Amino acid sequence: MRIHHYEKLWLMIGSFILIIFLSILAIQTFFLDMGPPSHAQTINPETVRESELFANAALTEIGENEYKLAIIAEMFAFRPGDLEIPAGSTVHFTLASPDVTHGFKISDTNVNVMVVPGHISKVSHTFSEPGEYLILCNEYCGLGHEYMANTITVK
Ligand code: CUA
Repeated sequence: MRIHHYEKLWLMIGSFILIIFLSILAIQTFFLDMGPPSHAQTINPETVRESELFANAALTEIGENEYKLAIIAEMFAFRPGDLEIPAGSTVHFTLASPDVTHGFKISDTNVNVMVVPGHISKVSHTFSEPGEYLILCNEYCGLGHEYMANTITVK
């Protein structure tokens, strides 16, 4: 069977593009760690409050200008509450919910994650500009949803 040479050419171009795209995907996923996290870490919602990670959580220094903080997002508050963070520091947030889905949005930053019961959410941010940052729940979670707001003071 004879294949027209234009058809052959297009088949080759198509295969070539497919290989390029799949290679880019593979490099991003396996070498650049850009793949979706897909339920990387889970937690039992019923024991979030007593868990090692979240009980007595406080801002903890883990390096120079680097902190970690575990926050429980629950009906209808973030715990711990208002925070003070030294300017220029990077904070690694770990979040979980013991009840329903909440949001964790820090105003004037691009931090915006969902906190889904059963799953641990993680997000990091460097607070270079001093000021007051509002933390908001942006997933409707019940009658007290609008009270879920805290302040991070960076100075
Ligand atoms: Cu929590 Cu809305």
